[in-house]
Amino acid sequence: MGRLIVLEGLDGAGTTTQARRLVEHLRAKGGKAHLTREPSDGPVGQLIRQMLTGGHAIPGQSIAQSTFGLLFAADRLDHLQREVEPQLAAGATVVSDRYYHSSLAYQGTGADRDWITMLNARARRPDLTIFLQVRPEVAAKRRADAGRVQELFEDLRMQEEVAAGYKATISELMAQGERIETIDGEASPDAVFGVILALVGSP
Ligand SMILES: Nc1ncnc2c1ncn2[C@@H]1O[C@H](COP(=O)(O)OP(=O)(O)OP(=O)(O)O)[C@@H](O)[C@H]1O
Ligand SMILES: [Mg+2]
Repeated sequence: MGRLIVLEGLDGAGTTTQARRLVEHLRAKGGKAHLTREPSDGPVGQLIRQMLTGGHAIPGQSIAQSTFGLLFAADRLDHLQREVEPQLAAGATVVSDRYYHSSLAYQGTGADRDWITMLNARARRPDLTIFLQVRPEVAAKRRADAGRVQELFEDLRMQEEVAAGYKATISELMAQGERIETIDGEASPDAVFGVILALVGSP
């Protein structure tokens, strides 16, 4: 049975960059590794991506957070069944670019917290989660420099709320015994990767 390793952080924290590098590295060392992400590439994940980039907009309204809470949780269980569990069973290290920590940090900060927690209660716990800590303004600058089109959750004030959401989520999950390592995501990509490798160890 392989390990499930999750990378988390604000939009622009570098999760995609580091997840790719980690999988490449594990493979180069002769290990079996599988790169994946949430929203997943399955049917529910594709729908979420369309909704996040403005597809399926409701004229004059924004789509309710509770709708996203349901969709993300549905995508997660589908992702686990369709992709993550089979890969783990085949002995691969699965590296996921985001997981339920994102749901708790993005959708689970307000009145919906217990409900979002319940929706995700059946999702397998990762073996290791690495949180790339980057200040919201630094993450925003990276997104702008990369010329990225702003998505629904990406304005600065919202990202500050998400940062607070991650903080609360991480302490709560760690208190339940989950292994979550918070590392400095503002260092150079090579330096961040070095710290990740030290945490992950060999394939
Ligand atoms: N440690 C770093 N220092 C400076 N720039 C970085 C670092 N890591 C990533 N970047 C750059 O910041 C931008 C965002 O990185 P990346 O796409 O990996 O972030 P992300 O966390 O996956 O963002 P999103 O959540 O929006 O997908 C990219 O242009 C990337 O090259
Ligand atoms: Mg990314």
